[in-house]
Amino acid sequence: LFSAPLFSAPLLAQTGTRPAPTQLQAPSALPAGFTTPSGYGDSVYPALGDAGLDVTHYDLSLRSDPGVDRLIGRAVLNIEARTPLTQISLDFAGPQVLGVKLNGRSARHVQAGEKLLILPPAPIAAGTAFTLTVAYSGTPALHLDASSGGGLRLGWIAQAGGSYVLSEPDGAHTFFPCNDVPADGASYSLHLNLPAGTTAVASGVQTRQTTLAGRTLSDFELVQEIPTYALTVHTGRLELVTQPGPAGIQIRNAFPVGLPDTVRAAFGQTPAMLGFLADWFGPYPYPVYGVAVTEDPQLPALETATLSTFPSRPEAPVTALHELAHQWFGDNLRLGDWSDIWLNEGFATYAELLWAEGQGEAAAPILDRWYARLVREPARGVIASTPAQLFDSSSYFRGALTLHALRLKVGDARFRQILRTYAARFSARSVRTTDFLGVVQELGGAAALEAMQPWLTGTALPPLPKETLTQT
Ligand code: ARG
Ligand code: ZN
Repeated sequence: LFSAPLFSAPLLAQTGTRPAPTQLQAPSALPAGFTTPSGYGDSVYPALGDAGLDVTHYDLSLRSDPGVDRLIGRAVLNIEARTPLTQISLDFAGPQVLGVKLNGRSARHVQAGEKLLILPPAPIAAGTAFTLTVAYSGTPALHLDASSGGGLRLGWIAQAGGSYVLSEPDGAHTFFPCNDVPADGASYSLHLNLPAGTTAVASGVQTRQTTLAGRTLSDFELVQEIPTYALTVHTGRLELVTQPGPAGIQIRNAFPVGLPDTVRAAFGQTPAMLGFLADWFGPYPYPVYGVAVTEDPQLPALETATLSTFPSRPEAPVTALHELAHQWFGDNLRLGDWSDIWLNEGFATYAELLWAEGQGEAAAPILDRWYARLVREPARGVIASTPAQLFDSSSYFRGALTLHALRLKVGDARFRQILRTYAARFSARSVRTTDFLGVVQELGGAAALEAMQPWLTGTALPPLPKETLTQT
């Protein structure tokens, strides 16, 4: 979550006006045998990904040193061919590739634009499982965020005492080769190699930490499938603060050593928030949760899986709640297409209102505030069509009001049942707007769908729904 003005002009000045290098080299520049890849088919980021690939698992070994903007990596990808493959194309704007192996044997490859293209020795039949190993070394590319007009750097970012990762929407391929579309979720094994004294914390459950010859090796496992942008790794002089949470969930926060209490304060209510959101959404999807605070005061907060990423500035507790809500809607239920971003942002924003109500606050001023934001900007239906729309007011506030219209129509009990059914049915799967609407229709009927329709598909901003329940 972020307030838009925060990283527009000043950050742009810092990073220059260099556009994100999204264009692939002309096919003529490719060596013989390679062809221009066609992308996964995402409607907002059509060049990303490869529709022929289903990556099921990424095993990433990453070696880095604080203060040195260099990454030595080895990525092992377990892939299933969804279509017959004569070429494999991965997104990778990262360091230089040193070698590629397919099922253990060296394979011809080329880095072109932000793609890593690989030629299998023989065509791969649809349905075949195979393993790709990519070794690389160098400086992660500077990758600017098209969704914020280039005002934000994405991916693996070195900072004074270490590094952090902030990838949404398309920064993951700055530090590992991947099928960088949210629709293709995968599980992860991470092996982090850092100088002793530097702490690593990452998405998933920590399974090892040993120090050998002055290097600390830390392993993390995330068995649940998540979208690529939700993977995070933080390294540095970090203080890990753990406590038991509800339902056996482990709470683990990572704060830079010396982080002031004014910044830590927003994260004190995690146990209560986990319990509260589980009541509305169903069980929290992972065994561990916490936040990692970076050294940068200007980042947007991001719902990185099991370990949300935050700027080092005092945040309101509802921002912490917002990122936690995304663990259900964004990470566990991932987008089938970026145009459906309201299924992330509208839901996480609506969770803020549910929490505020639970704290005894009145809903009306919050609804008015959201509505006022929408009135100020050009109206659009909630389905996004450009990168610039992904994180605009319509995705957040019109998305949230779409849910509010539904809730007022069906009442709290049925609304809760719809959210819980949707979260359970699509757990660890990708979702489109029609998947949610299917659940709405099934449990709320045609009238429930109708109440949402003007918000979803109309262009004009509908009137703010009134606080009256038609049924309970
Ligand atoms: N998903 C984040 C949140 O609202 C916002 C990410 C903004 N990302 C960006 N590239 N501008 O919690
Ligand atoms: Zn959000």
